[in-house]
Amino acid sequence: MKKLIKNGIIVTATDEYEADVLIEDGKVTSIGAYLTEDIDEVIDAKGAYLFPGGVDPHTHLDMPFGGTVTADDFETGTIAAAYGGTTTVIDFCLTNKGEPLRNAVSHWHEKSKDKAVIDYSFHLMIGEVNDAVLSELPSIIEEEGITSFKVFMAYKNVFQVDDSVLFRTLLTAKEHGALVMVHAENGDVIDHLVTEALDKGNIDPIHHALTRPPELEGEATGRAVELTGLADSQLYVVHVTSAAALEKITEARRKGYNVWGETCPQYLVLDQSNLEEPNFEGAKYVCSPPLREKWNQDVLWNALKNGQLQTLGSDQCSFNFKGQKDLGKGDFTKIPNGCPIIEDRFSLFFSEGVKKGRISINQFVDMVSTQPAKLFGLFPQKGTIAVGSDADIVIFDPNRERTLSVDTHHMNVDYNPFEGMKVTGEPISVLSRGEFVIRDKQFVGSPGEGNYLKRKRFNSTKKVTEKSLS
Ligand code: URP
Ligand code: ZN
Ligand code: ZN
Ligand code: ZN
Repeated sequence: MKKLIKNGIIVTATDEYEADVLIEDGKVTSIGAYLTEDIDEVIDAKGAYLFPGGVDPHTHLDMPFGGTVTADDFETGTIAAAYGGTTTVIDFCLTNKGEPLRNAVSHWHEKSKDKAVIDYSFHLMIGEVNDAVLSELPSIIEEEGITSFKVFMAYKNVFQVDDSVLFRTLLTAKEHGALVMVHAENGDVIDHLVTEALDKGNIDPIHHALTRPPELEGEATGRAVELTGLADSQLYVVHVTSAAALEKITEARRKGYNVWGETCPQYLVLDQSNLEEPNFEGAKYVCSPPLREKWNQDVLWNALKNGQLQTLGSDQCSFNFKGQKDLGKGDFTKIPNGCPIIEDRFSLFFSEGVKKGRISINQFVDMVSTQPAKLFGLFPQKGTIAVGSDADIVIFDPNRERTLSVDTHHMNVDYNPFEGMKVTGEPISVLSRGEFVIRDKQFVGSPGEGNYLKRKRFNSTKKVTEKSLS
């Protein structure tokens, strides 16, 4: 089966040019002009951009949290991702202390197998470091291709680890060629501030933000990057929200530490005032770290433009307003943390970033697709349009205007945090390994068609250098 996409404008992290794309057996096999020999199907993409499918390095699908489970699972979540232009997700496999890591990985395979409509992979949460964990890790890296570990410095008594576990995870990652990801907030001090707030009767959603101030994100980020420098290891700071955290990352990179930073759309377009929306609607915006004062948005956009932050994740973690978020009525600590973002990540970033002149179109592709693929061992299979790469391609109309809404989104959740926001640009068709998943804005894929991706080890040639800072 040969498919030819004609007349589109290919955009990669470095180039933008008009060319036809030939697809055979799920791969791009030729890029050029007048590729006409015995094609089974010709797709006309006139006036459209051809972007590499989005790679979302940060999702929580079918994840238990605070006595409930995310509203989106691997089926609904990946369908929504595909509608939005994302063709690969890397989800966080949670682990339980005292349980073999292998069990957790099997559990995540059960959740995703026969459900995902696009390709997917897992990061592995590390909640303890002991002989059992250390003896299991090499085989999990080798056999499962799981080459990134996630460590939480917050969520005390749930996911949080101490500095010793973080440090030993960094050392282990260095030894085996894995990238450590960190949720950087000081969980101990947050715990204290939360107790104080509840004692004073401060129970509303806004207190979620007020008890997790940016100083505590900055402090934990600084601690994590220094431990990374000491271990001579590699670190990816997830969901950077504030100037306080960004300063620590920038300083670490200036020193030549191997540190990268991700931010998410919610921190670029929403702010702390959303948590004060009446009738408990502020709960819709409860995520950790919290939305910040609005001025942080400019700081984050500048950091993306200047290369101080390298990727855009969604931190997809959806809970219904009715029946889930409202578990926290009368006590903000019981509001399940997270927002539904997986579908709108790509278009929002294009609209707010490229269309508003904050980043270039090549930077857009780099941060939404190429860099996540590179850092997490999927490039060049994923993350670009090139001969030999998987034909994961988004046919994108850059001029179409629409309004984001729960009424039109495909996530399995009863609200959209960007409700009413106008965006310019929309994925029209999306191919995964050469097959349409979305065709003319209709889902035409099937659950189970997504493949599990074993990833390459962290590659030290991508380390931070003086040159990459400029
Ligand atoms: O609030 C959030 N972000 N929930 C998901 C878990 C995490 O911390 O990333
Ligand atoms: Zn987190
Ligand atoms: Zn997350
Ligand atoms: Zn086919």
